[in-house]
Amino acid sequence: MMIFVTGGAGYIGSHTCVELLNAGMDVTVFDNFSNSQAEALERVKSITGKQLRSVEGDIRDGVALKKALADSGATSVIHFAGLKAVGESEVDPLRYYDNNVVGTMRLLESMRELNIKQLVFSSSATVYGVPQFLPYTEKHPLSATNTYGQTKLAVENMLRDVYRSDASWRLAILRYFNPVGAHPTGLIGEDPQGVPNNLMPYVAQVAVGRREFLNVWGNDYPTPDGTGVRDYIHVVDLAAGHVKAVQFLERNAGCNAINLGAGVGHSVLDLVHAFESASGKPVPVKVGPRRSGDLDAYWADPSLARDLLGWSAERGMEAMCLDTWKWQQSNPNGYKGGI
Ligand code: NAD
Ligand code: UFG
Repeated sequence: MMIFVTGGAGYIGSHTCVELLNAGMDVTVFDNFSNSQAEALERVKSITGKQLRSVEGDIRDGVALKKALADSGATSVIHFAGLKAVGESEVDPLRYYDNNVVGTMRLLESMRELNIKQLVFSSSATVYGVPQFLPYTEKHPLSATNTYGQTKLAVENMLRDVYRSDASWRLAILRYFNPVGAHPTGLIGEDPQGVPNNLMPYVAQVAVGRREFLNVWGNDYPTPDGTGVRDYIHVVDLAAGHVKAVQFLERNAGCNAINLGAGVGHSVLDLVHAFESASGKPVPVKVGPRRSGDLDAYWADPSLARDLLGWSAERGMEAMCLDTWKWQQSNPNGYKGGI
């Protein structure tokens, strides 16, 4: 079975390619490499000992996209391609609507023309907005507090509308919580450009000595230690969830939104302490003001993923930190530094 993976060279995409290949599926990646390196795909091949096809292209280019999709012979699509920086989305919203919403429209048009109606989409817990209850279940009301979140919500709504118009589509909307970690080989991992926005890559760069200390964005939240609480999910577990989602779509029509989280909340300081133990390195912190737009605490109810997909997270905080540390040490400057 051939799977067409948009954005497959990125952080979550590359880990998913490994799991798809290991599950015996074939993979064609379609990526414009705007936030990734082709080297990641070479490493996917060396981890799995298998080949994959890769086409360089932009999902907004409908002609190139349709050709690549038709040539691939795929029966199923996993759609990772998109922009994901919340701050950047506030500065340049049209670029985010263009990549994330228009890009997804082009993809759905190509799929419809080719009669390929199976899609797994990367959504985010950000579509739940301010928690009205916790843990978030898939029935929690939806809202978005920034442009990035609006684009995810717009695509979710587009998918629900498409399904309502034609019930032969098979759509899985996966709502990721906070993906962290790296492949245990240390060969692929998250390679943020510039100063990392997200907690785990920042902590890893402090531990390796690239940055002096971590800014903790607020310690006066109503949480056990005052710092923000999130549901961190190991990227290999997340990737395995995509294989389960593809297999689920093979058996079931429908349009389902499904949380992919561990179901456990960890504070910023929990993660810092776990990273210090895993790495044996100190991670100095300085407490600063709250970061604008941050929520105090949220985590997933992952029971629907267990019931529908037969999936649950297996790797805990220790593995998340150990694997991030291995990737950071072997690739202190990311893919560009070589190995
Ligand atoms: P990433 O930036 O590492 O990967 C995205 C990939 O898509 C990159 O390889 C990039 O080059 C490619 N891409 C971007 N725009 C493209 C376009 N127009 N045409 C073709 N390729 C394009 O990001 P990631 O962390 O792997 O995230 C994958 C998906 O999951 C994204 O849609 C993201 O919004 C979503 N998501 C990520 C997180 C997270 O914290 N990492 C959380 C929730 C949801
Ligand atoms: N944090 C710090 N210092 C930092 C970075 C983060 O204290 O340098 C704190 C944040 O305040 C927050 C926690 O660490 O409490 C996690 O922050 P991240 O930036 O790692 O992740 P977010 O929860 O803010 O957002 C992530 C993705 C979004 C996605 C969201 C969905 O970045 O794209 O998860 O749950 F929408």
